[in-house]
Amino acid sequence: MEDKVPSETKQTISGRKVRIGIIGTGGIAEAHVQAYKKCPDVEIVAASDIIPGKAEAFMKRNEVEGVRFYPSHKEMIECEELDGVSICTYNATHAECAIYALEHGVNVMLEKPFTVTLDEAVEVCRAEKKSGKILTIGFQPRMDNNMKMIKKICQSGELGKIYYIQTGGGRRRFIPNSTFIEKRTAGVGAVGDIGCYSLDMVLGAIGYPKPLTVSGYTSGYFGASPKYNPAGAARFNVDDFSAAFIRLEGDIVLDFRISWAMHLDTPGDTVILGTEGALRIPSTECWNGTVGGPMKLYRDIAGEQAEMEIPLCAKIPEGLFYHKIRSFVNAVKNGGSAPVPSSEIIINQAIIDGIVRSAELGKEVDIVIPEI
Ligand SMILES: NC(=O)c1ccc[n+]([C@@H]2O[C@H](COP(=O)([O-])OP(=O)(O)OC[C@H]3O[C@@H](n4cnc5c(N)ncnc54)[C@H](O)[C@@H]3O)[C@@H](O)[C@H]2O)c1
Repeated sequence: MEDKVPSETKQTISGRKVRIGIIGTGGIAEAHVQAYKKCPDVEIVAASDIIPGKAEAFMKRNEVEGVRFYPSHKEMIECEELDGVSICTYNATHAECAIYALEHGVNVMLEKPFTVTLDEAVEVCRAEKKSGKILTIGFQPRMDNNMKMIKKICQSGELGKIYYIQTGGGRRRFIPNSTFIEKRTAGVGAVGDIGCYSLDMVLGAIGYPKPLTVSGYTSGYFGASPKYNPAGAARFNVDDFSAAFIRLEGDIVLDFRISWAMHLDTPGDTVILGTEGALRIPSTECWNGTVGGPMKLYRDIAGEQAEMEIPLCAKIPEGLFYHKIRSFVNAVKNGGSAPVPSSEIIINQAIIDGIVRSAELGKEVDIVIPEI
């Protein structure tokens, strides 16, 4: 992947700690803060949340002292000399926070999904390019050794020419009745929340080829139903199920489905078909971007149809989230490039955007990613 940070603007940090600010102190910010606390070369100096008092209570609960608090990302970025921010806001404010930070010369760890729309992602990428700063997107499943194994197999040539991929996963019933279920805050539902993980699993493995067209479908029968979602139905206005057929450059098709709720345990395993072999990746019951069990590799051996089980890889010490944060800190400190680059995840976002557009129009649409 192209390293977008011009070498003359790369800076390193030594002789002091890396200064981090947290934007948005809700659920996932806890995991960020706990991971930063494990980095002796980092200090969390500031936090902001638009809900008065929330950031203060959050830092107290997480036992972080000496933090300065702000009513939104803007004041915090203007008043502090930050090396980096973790953007842990809901999806709808990802773009504005990331652009503001980059325009003020601050490196960014942005939670997934990248943004809500492709247009927003393009604007963030342009701000990143102009700033020469690091922008990494929070896909911690990437750090998993099983994910690395999938990529290794796909790129080894064992499968031959890859031509068909089925991916996705999901839950029989688990609707996150938080800020995730309203367009105003989340922008999109399951397709963005967990769909982005299944897309990253397979597209990351095959080098993120360009998407060309998509025919997408979304629905929200369960989330909006008082019978199936009594606690959240009145607020629910995003998707809880999505399916799509996506054409990719290189004559590859991608068959995608994702669910927060349905009358089925899983919409299927991930399957990668090539001219010389195939890979089956078991789905998990509660899809969160991880591999659900030993994978199977299918190939003909000596003219016979054979299959081989690939044992699950060992978990990495300290967990995936720590490594997601640590890799960002390392890049900031050493002037490295983004661990999960926007040049890849913009493709992920373009597909999500295409699925939503196609579902609204009820027909196939083209996917065009503008020049950054
Ligand atoms: N990587 C993962 O495993 C993972 C897991 C859960 C959630 N997430 C992602 O993290 C993001 C946040 O999820 P959450 O569950 O923590 O949501 P949340 O609603 O609990 O927290 C978001 C917080 O951001 C604040 N906020 C919004 N705009 C702001 C702004 N401009 N400045 C300061 N604060 C602002 C809100 O007031 C809220 O407190 C989502 O995009 C979600 O997809 C990632």
